[in-house]
Amino acid sequence: MVVVTRRHVLKAGAGAGALIAAGSATPWTWSPAGSVPGHGTGADPKLAWDPVPDDLVADVYRRGDVAKVNAALRAWTRNDQPLPAGLSGDLRDFVEQARRLPSWADRGKLADAVTFNQKRGTYLGALYGFASGMMSAVIPNEARTVYYSHGGAAMKDRISKTAKLGYDIGSLNAYAPSGEMAVTCVKTRLIHSAVRHLLPRSGHWASVSGQTKPITQADMMVTWHSLPTTVMRMLRRWKVPLNPAESGGFLHSWQVAGHMLGIDDQYIPATWDSAETQAAQVLDPILAATPEGVKIADMLLDLGMQLDLTLLSRGVLGALTRFMLGDRIANDLRIPREPVWDPLLNAAWGPYVLVREGVLQAGMPKEAYWTFDEMLRQFVLLYVSELRMPISIELPSGNNPH
Ligand code: HEM
Repeated sequence: MVVVTRRHVLKAGAGAGALIAAGSATPWTWSPAGSVPGHGTGADPKLAWDPVPDDLVADVYRRGDVAKVNAALRAWTRNDQPLPAGLSGDLRDFVEQARRLPSWADRGKLADAVTFNQKRGTYLGALYGFASGMMSAVIPNEARTVYYSHGGAAMKDRISKTAKLGYDIGSLNAYAPSGEMAVTCVKTRLIHSAVRHLLPRSGHWASVSGQTKPITQADMMVTWHSLPTTVMRMLRRWKVPLNPAESGGFLHSWQVAGHMLGIDDQYIPATWDSAETQAAQVLDPILAATPEGVKIADMLLDLGMQLDLTLLSRGVLGALTRFMLGDRIANDLRIPREPVWDPLLNAAWGPYVLVREGVLQAGMPKEAYWTFDEMLRQFVLLYVSELRMPISIELPSGNNPH
């Protein structure tokens, strides 16, 4: 377990404060006309959370029933599985309702998502694990919330649990009766409610967050963009050939996930274009390092270490961060320049993707091709190792004590 003191963290990130203050003041101006239902109240998502489960989960903590609820949830894994005994009346009713797919879920589009995930799976491990993962360190509200919550003291465990959602959404039967994605979403929704109950009691969080309660509807959409929107941006930047129906399916699988995670449909973009418009307004301007994010990034760079994956060393992962998220963010995160990998990625990643996709027949040295191929394979190995142990997403017992 990584042990860090708040003083180390603050020292590491000194100077990032001004950027954050500017970012958090950005108003939400995106119109619900671009959302899945095409209309909405236009209520400010920065002042909205998820009131129904928030109240129910707060009651669980007040009654001292956390262990009982966790024991019940542990036994519930499959989308079609009846709820185990042990969940009380109101909470049970809520879970029964929350586990249902939205009325607008489209089985055809979800099938297209499966094809997308099959074809693009090799990149997805690296992109979810690394582009999205590192981005979470430069989303100020998320970095502070994650760092001061229970998971901030046990990042390895937290990463495995988050990897489970990435795995479940990409699996063949994600939302089908035999899949696990609906269950994972509902559990995650309950965990977010737990964090909303617990974190305002953390003096550390309260003194730096500028929020009364974490994980607003706006925060959830920002994090949503760090996942599918960022993945799509990278694939487009790398000129990976994409079938429009399959890309649409991928979007749809994330729209359904957003709904099932408790995001109000009026904030979920209907198309990739409206997702882009929203991300340009709510994600891009706020990306900045915080002291907490610097520390989270530092822990993420050690991801490959336990397995001794040589192509996922700190240096390579740092270079990938710089390549994917740019110099400003890499510098803010105190990631050093890498003399071999920085230029290699800049010069050879583009041709590698084109050769790999069959768009170019040649154009790069075999050694560089092999090195990138092996790096992607090591991401898959890392992913598989994260998922080898049974993973149970459970209500945390408290906050990060540090
Ligand atoms: C927990 C995914 C948005 C903060 C989790 C977990 C998953 C997840 C799978 C369970 C893992 C665990 O228990 O450690 C997502 C997805 C999101 C989202 C897919 C949006 C689409 C957010 C946002 C924040 C946040 C916006 C903060 C601003 C947290 C925290 C935990 C958590 C603090 C609990 C960590 C712990 O104490 O163990 N999330 N999340 N999440 N999430 Fe999220």
